[in-house]
Amino acid sequence: MNTSIEHIVGRRIWDSRGRPTVEVEVELASGARGRGVAPAGASRGSNEAIDLRDGGLELGGYGVRSALANVNGPIASALRGMDAMQQAQVDAALIELDGTSNKARMGGNATIATSLAVLHAAAAAAGEPLWRYLAGGAPVRLPLPEIQIFGGGAHAGRRVDIQDFLVMPLGAQSFDEALFMVAEVYHAAGDLMAARGSRMGVADEGGWWPDFGSNEEALEVLAQAIHKAGYRNDEVAISLDIAASEFGRNGRYKLALESREFGTEEWLELLLGWVRRYPIISVEDPVAEDDADGMRAFTQAVGRSVQVIGDDFLVTDAARVATAAALGQCNAVLIKPNQAGTVTETRRTMEVARELGWGAVVSARSGETEDVAIVHLAIGWNTGQLKVGSFSRSERMAKWNEALRIEEQLGSGAHYAGWQALPVRSTP
Ligand code: PGA
Ligand code: ZN
Repeated sequence: MNTSIEHIVGRRIWDSRGRPTVEVEVELASGARGRGVAPAGASRGSNEAIDLRDGGLELGGYGVRSALANVNGPIASALRGMDAMQQAQVDAALIELDGTSNKARMGGNATIATSLAVLHAAAAAAGEPLWRYLAGGAPVRLPLPEIQIFGGGAHAGRRVDIQDFLVMPLGAQSFDEALFMVAEVYHAAGDLMAARGSRMGVADEGGWWPDFGSNEEALEVLAQAIHKAGYRNDEVAISLDIAASEFGRNGRYKLALESREFGTEEWLELLLGWVRRYPIISVEDPVAEDDADGMRAFTQAVGRSVQVIGDDFLVTDAARVATAAALGQCNAVLIKPNQAGTVTETRRTMEVARELGWGAVVSARSGETEDVAIVHLAIGWNTGQLKVGSFSRSERMAKWNEALRIEEQLGSGAHYAGWQALPVRSTP
């Protein structure tokens, strides 16, 4: 079969915030096709691959004409005739064509959509679902999901400072049961908000709108919701994405909701107090991306009892993960393909994390589409954890539902990662 790349077409589609984004379709000489879509973040790390936008007045500056011109012009020319089964070579060509350290010329949105489209076409040529093509016969697990119940920060008009209040169904026996448990907690939280007279729809990733008087109040209501749904802390634990780069820099942290400001040390005291008082098993970006000392201090303070995930801090970069590990910062990495800009770089970061014994959480962005590729990456690469936002809005549910279908395909060979996917020693 001839698996050389014959056609590449970029088109503008629209994401879950009604903003334009890049979709790329690849066709091989054999007729096999693949489609890749770029998601978009709102609380981005400054070292991520550049999300190339047109600027100007049209579409609030979010236009993707320039990114699409890159796909249909130089990228299509460079990749035509290459073998889609050689993902590393295709991605190396994209990296070379771009020529910058952060995909600033071609746009990380153009490169990741293209890279994913080629991957999908290769799986189609092999006649396999993407997850199975990626696994290549190695064992896989259904991931421990990390699911948002309240959305805050940049995803909710900064109504609260902390970005994600999430749960992890550690005690489920299967992925199917894990979603059942989260559904009960999600609706219990909605009922609690209604009873308080503060149920006001949902934030960007589908979590309940965070109408609270303080950041800790959200934590309290979340703990109540877990209890109300009938679960113990070792069955459903709390996870936080602080996204501290959004309100901290130069060692100062400002909680706008509470009109309070902290230095790094006081800030860590506050977080560690939460970790002691609530069943928190995982914390992402506890400090700002420029606070390397703070990250080390937090990671050392929690030891191996809490997963510490680097998102803005590590930007899916293999070298940053290796450096952070050497310095005792974080013990897990968020894996966002569009932060890296190609499938191969994303995979490398995941592999480095695995070699280090770290956790690896494949993650969506706040701006998403119906695309479910990341579910296949999480399962095919056997990362053990998956974060795609909350338990409402179809760009989120499409992904959870895809994992259910894969669990069914695996049949009696399906194995749910559960708490064992965490780099921690004890349950909360
Ligand atoms: P983003 O947020 O997609 O808006 O960057 C997701 C996250 O911080 O994990
Ligand atoms: Zn994050």
